[in-house]
Amino acid sequence: MKKIVVAIDGFSSCGKSTIAKQLAKEFGYIYVDTGAMYRAVSLFCIQKGWLTDNGTVNEEALKQNIQTIHISFKTNNGRQETYLNNQNVEREIRTLNVANGASIVSTLGFVRRELVRQQQLMGKEKGIVMDGRDIGTVVFPDAELKIFVTAKPEIRAERRYKELQDKGIQETMSAVLANVKERDDRDQHRKESPLKKANDALLLDNSDLDKNQQMDIVRQWFLERTKE
Ligand code: DC
Repeated sequence: MKKIVVAIDGFSSCGKSTIAKQLAKEFGYIYVDTGAMYRAVSLFCIQKGWLTDNGTVNEEALKQNIQTIHISFKTNNGRQETYLNNQNVEREIRTLNVANGASIVSTLGFVRRELVRQQQLMGKEKGIVMDGRDIGTVVFPDAELKIFVTAKPEIRAERRYKELQDKGIQETMSAVLANVKERDDRDQHRKESPLKKANDALLLDNSDLDKNQQMDIVRQWFLERTKE
């Protein structure tokens, strides 16, 4: 079986990470959640007071300190968790506030260049499943398998709402839906690497699919692309 790079892109809360994690687990691939990396940069800025509630970033301070931000992943009890400068921040980066900040810092070219550089290093040996917004278009334009995932905004908001509730994070359904729509808009219309489907990406609309049905489709695609 050929070792390949799998690039999974798509809108927020469309289940990219569920697919990516499951595929990596089944085939012994490394899984990288690039959204967690932008979230970690957002958290770093919030902690330093460089990102205000009205969405203004202290770009100069962030640019000066971008090299001091070290993001890594460790598996704890079978779950991959995100570390920012050796501190486990997995829980903190999942709040709506940090997500909003991530969609703001991810519009900055110098932030993207640094994170893309780190992501390309992680995928040098292949055998990797990476999910994000620009993986098939910018990070790995030559990936052997590219998947673009989408689902209706209302369905994505419902899934994210349940996820937050399970984690004990309290938000209203309307706040979650507004956040999903706001991030869709920002992700698609930013100047730097906007979210778009690569020409050679396979489209997966999972609005009406359950987890098993979508995995059957993705597994089939993976097996076709890894044939010797
Ligand atoms: O997938 P997520 O919700 O964890 O992503 C958080 C934010 O980071 C999202 O608003 C878009 C941004 N992002 C990006 O610009 N490029 C990526 N490769 C991954 C995420």
